[in-house]
Amino acid sequence: MSEQRSYPRHVSTDAGDIEIRLMSPADEAAVLAFGKGLPTHDLLFLPRNISQPKVLSAWVKEIERGAITSLLAVKDGRVVGCGTLVRDPHSWSPHVGEIRMVVSLDVRGKGVGRALSQETFALALGAGLEKLSVQMTVDQQAAIALFESLGFKAEALLRDHVRDVDGRTHDIVVLGHNVAQVQAQMEAYGLPGAVQH
Ligand SMILES: CC(C)(COP(=O)(O)OP(=O)(O)OC[C@H]1O[C@@H](n2cnc3c(N)ncnc32)[C@H](O)[C@@H]1OP(=O)(O)O)[C@@H](O)C(=O)NCCC(=O)NCCS
Repeated sequence: MSEQRSYPRHVSTDAGDIEIRLMSPADEAAVLAFGKGLPTHDLLFLPRNISQPKVLSAWVKEIERGAITSLLAVKDGRVVGCGTLVRDPHSWSPHVGEIRMVVSLDVRGKGVGRALSQETFALALGAGLEKLSVQMTVDQQAAIALFESLGFKAEALLRDHVRDVDGRTHDIVVLGHNVAQVQAQMEAYGLPGAVQH
């Protein structure tokens, strides 16, 4: 999936130099430490709690199987962000990819999320996906603003869809990006390549 893009890459952000590279099984412990350091409320958009070792092992197996591609943002050897592209070529949605992204609290608002989301988006385009989706709790304003700025639009609201550790439920918003349609529109305007990587 990453054939058309080479890693590691370095990006300069307000948080300093960030290395973006593919996650491998060797990163299991580092990503678990990253997951454990995140506020649990920020993990509610994920299907499983990534601060648990069992979940990390399953995730690494999915990476080995090729069903998931994860990019890590690394600062001074420490994982500070993760962007994941999930797809299921054997489902009725082989053309759809889901992006999942989270950044450490201490480096938020400094451009790491933007860099990671652009890289993850580029991976999805490189994989030939036609539609992308992201989901988050409705109060994740930064995430909504970030993905809207990339062209995602709200498609669904799932009420009381997740329950936190205290038993409170939260609504989930699903945003979608019809990459193929946008590409076709750009070509109609004489701007081919506008959404290429
Ligand atoms: C979403 C998230 C990954 C963004 O990471 P980040 O490193 O803080 O993002 P950046 O600093 O690159 O900011 C990217 C954009 O987000 C928006 N943004 C960032 N912080 C914001 C804030 N406090 N309020 C509103 N918008 C904000 C802005 O549009 C910003 O773009 P700009 O700086 O060009 O204006 C991070 O907030 C996070 O981990 N949230 C919790 C997990 C989550 O809900 N993920 C969404 C599921 S896909």
